[in-house]
Amino acid sequence: IQISWSTAMLDKNGYDHYMLKEIHEQPQAVAQTINGRLDLELGKINIDNYGISNINLKEIDRIQIIACGTSFYAGSLARYFIEKFTKIPVEVELASESRYRTSTVNSRTLSIAVSQSGETIDTLQAIKFSKENGAQTLAIVNVPGSTIAHNCHDESLIYAGPEVGVASTKAFSAQVSSLIILGLALAQEQKKLSSEKITECIDELVKVPSLLEKTLTLSSYIEKISKKFYKASSILFIGRGQQWFVAMEGALKLKELSYIHAEGYAAGELKHGPIALIDENLWVVCLAPKDSYYEKTISNIEEIRARGGKILSVGTEGDEDLKSISDEFIGVVECSEIILPFLTAVPMHLLSYWIAVKKGTDVDQPRNLAKSVTVE
Ligand code: G6P
Repeated sequence: IQISWSTAMLDKNGYDHYMLKEIHEQPQAVAQTINGRLDLELGKINIDNYGISNINLKEIDRIQIIACGTSFYAGSLARYFIEKFTKIPVEVELASESRYRTSTVNSRTLSIAVSQSGETIDTLQAIKFSKENGAQTLAIVNVPGSTIAHNCHDESLIYAGPEVGVASTKAFSAQVSSLIILGLALAQEQKKLSSEKITECIDELVKVPSLLEKTLTLSSYIEKISKKFYKASSILFIGRGQQWFVAMEGALKLKELSYIHAEGYAAGELKHGPIALIDENLWVVCLAPKDSYYEKTISNIEEIRARGGKILSVGTEGDEDLKSISDEFIGVVECSEIILPFLTAVPMHLLSYWIAVKKGTDVDQPRNLAKSVTVE
């Protein structure tokens, strides 16, 4: 696959900020990343088009995902799907910490560096460390010809196109889609899933771009409700399962863009500490779409409500029960669990964007942050 980035791609295209443009480019970012890698007729993953030619996926019995920032959350979220498809244990490691432990990788370990820029020094050092210790290494990067890719056995590009805003948005969705495809490719090579099951997953993945398109129409509604949050001094984000990492991503985006303190928490951990923070001044963003963990998350929301906390829930469109226990509600379309995190991440990105705009911070270049971090 040829890839070239034209100067036209670096235009704001009429948007006020690169970040808003890039949020709206998520459907194309995912479409281009899955394009050519899914064989819809045969129900197969095209492993060559994915970029794997040196690594033997049949031999892999352990996976290590190494990343920083938003890429770390993309990896953490994708872990659920990779383990589900392959039954291979997956660890997701913060690149800056992974070298401080004794290496336990071997030639059957697949170490994956996930990095939009392909230049993050911590991720580079960590993947080199895994390679030196004998792991098979794969780079999942957005920028072609990056240093991280040069240091790995194989390189798989996501095709998000240039991302200028410091806060990563479209690369996140593209990374998640790429890692899900990798999970399916492993399952296919190791015969862990039937071709019917792989076809079923492919059929779901191809729906993501159009459903993202639909979810993006929430922007003006989110702009409207953002007025309620921009004066907050702290906002908590909670979710379960994959939604835990959507919550983490939401909190990261909020703090980096609007300088409001935010924390992402696993909903089930609320009772082990953060519940003490709840009073009538605290907003809690609750990720509670209809997935396997829905009932349990609802009981966490009830606990917050009973203590006077204010609830902004992100759930499934038409969920009147959830709406009735929330102060504000954002609905995404009902869909399968593979699609859900793509859709619930959109309100996270839009919310932090609109809150930052209301606060008047520098959305595309927040203070103290860099797009690509080349210091350890
Ligand atoms: C910086 C950026 C983040 C990004 C992180 C990892 O902190 O501000 O947006 O998620 O680096 O970058 P990478 O290029 O490795 O994905």
